[in-house]
Amino acid sequence: MAGYSDVLIGLQYGDEGKAKIIDLLANDYEIIARFNGGCNAGHTIEKNGIRLALHQIPSGVFYPNKTLYIGSGCVVNIDKLKEEIKDVEKEGIVLKNRLHISSLASVVQPHHIIIDSLTAGSIGTTKNGIGPCYADRAARISKERLLNIRMGDLLEDEDYYFGKIEENLKATIEQFEIDFDLSKTMATLKDDFNAIKEFVEVDTLFMDKQINMGKNVLFEGAQSFMLDVTKGTIPCVTSSNTQVGAAYVGGDLNPKYHRKTFGVAKVIMSRVGNGPFVSEFGGEKSEKYCMYHKREDESGRDALALLASEDDFEMGIGMRLLSNEYGASTKRPRRTGAFDLVQLNYAVKTNGIDELFLTKCDLLNLYTKTNKQKMPLITKYQLDDQKIDFVPASSRTYYRVQPTIEYRDIFSGDITQLETVEELPRELKEFVKEVEDYANCKVMGIGTGPERNDYLLF
Ligand code: IMP
Repeated sequence: MAGYSDVLIGLQYGDEGKAKIIDLLANDYEIIARFNGGCNAGHTIEKNGIRLALHQIPSGVFYPNKTLYIGSGCVVNIDKLKEEIKDVEKEGIVLKNRLHISSLASVVQPHHIIIDSLTAGSIGTTKNGIGPCYADRAARISKERLLNIRMGDLLEDEDYYFGKIEENLKATIEQFEIDFDLSKTMATLKDDFNAIKEFVEVDTLFMDKQINMGKNVLFEGAQSFMLDVTKGTIPCVTSSNTQVGAAYVGGDLNPKYHRKTFGVAKVIMSRVGNGPFVSEFGGEKSEKYCMYHKREDESGRDALALLASEDDFEMGIGMRLLSNEYGASTKRPRRTGAFDLVQLNYAVKTNGIDELFLTKCDLLNLYTKTNKQKMPLITKYQLDDQKIDFVPASSRTYYRVQPTIEYRDIFSGDITQLETVEELPRELKEFVKEVEDYANCKVMGIGTGPERNDYLLF
């Protein structure tokens, strides 16, 4: 009997807390697989006092018997992956024969990182070379210079393909006229590849064979739906397809094994980098501020006083401090905003989400300390004289959308210690019901606190 595959994605702008849900679902699967992105993703997981910052290795490392797969839709930063593997193994966690990297996954080459740093401009990328790497994958060659180098290529002929990487690096150094230690970079890259090459999977039918042995797969999305390169808030998006269907392209399995789709949404929303965010506290001012400030700039401020401010921008800073919304990879302040039901519904419909998980519900009590003392909710979008129920194709248009904000009563107590959903405050149960009705989708669970076990399932 063949197994099945499920897909889990974030429905907003990333950082919804997907790793925690994967952790709680992981028992049902033998394989946890990534299908998009690279080391631009980042999450910290913790178990028995061991804290790991993961960027490329799929979640589920703490389960010794799970297979971890990095699919062909991913782009691999070899140097950083080597470090990540070292960090994981240092904790006594075995990856040998567990971690498999598709031969078809593209290598993030040194010139990609240079180009990302020099040209990505106002998108506010993570500067990991993700965009230039996907661009080279699509461009394939430039005047007979081979642009897309895959992990399997390096395995097949190191001398030849490292030569190609060096050619690309030289061309970029010349193009931008920069000082760069080419030989040191190449030497490190070769050494690091040698340290990780045992993990490269040459069998391009690996996933198909696994599922036909009865194994179940959970595909773990990176970056989230609103950052999808086709459907997101273009151009301020990542460079890969983050939507559910992409799991069956970049995850190296055909779609007939698909069973179920999970979506994760954070009830106080956040976004890192630029781009439309209609429910942002402090709007445009906050967007600009977050681009040019660091965590240290606000760490000494009185969070509760800020939260109580009449000014939404100040309130947003208080919310960020109290909900600790700073980038895991970049440490940048994340822009924060109210829960947007219109956008959620759009994401649920576009991706065919079967079950929703709402994270950070414990923090909704912060709204009782705001000036309005109620929870704001975006319930409608108005574009000029029209009501719309979708995210516009153009970001310029999306910036013009006027959201309708409705206010709901919210609980003031601490829900972290509650053990059953029956004990949840009435206001939270009503909120969950409102989400289910609005998006016509079941809520399977909620996050009730920062720890691994702080969640309740419905
Ligand atoms: P890139 O993926 O590094 O090219 O960055 C493109 C945009 O996606 C930027 O706004 C980043 O901040 C955002 N981004 C990339 N990865 C993540 C993530 O894992 N969480 C949240 N935002 C991300």
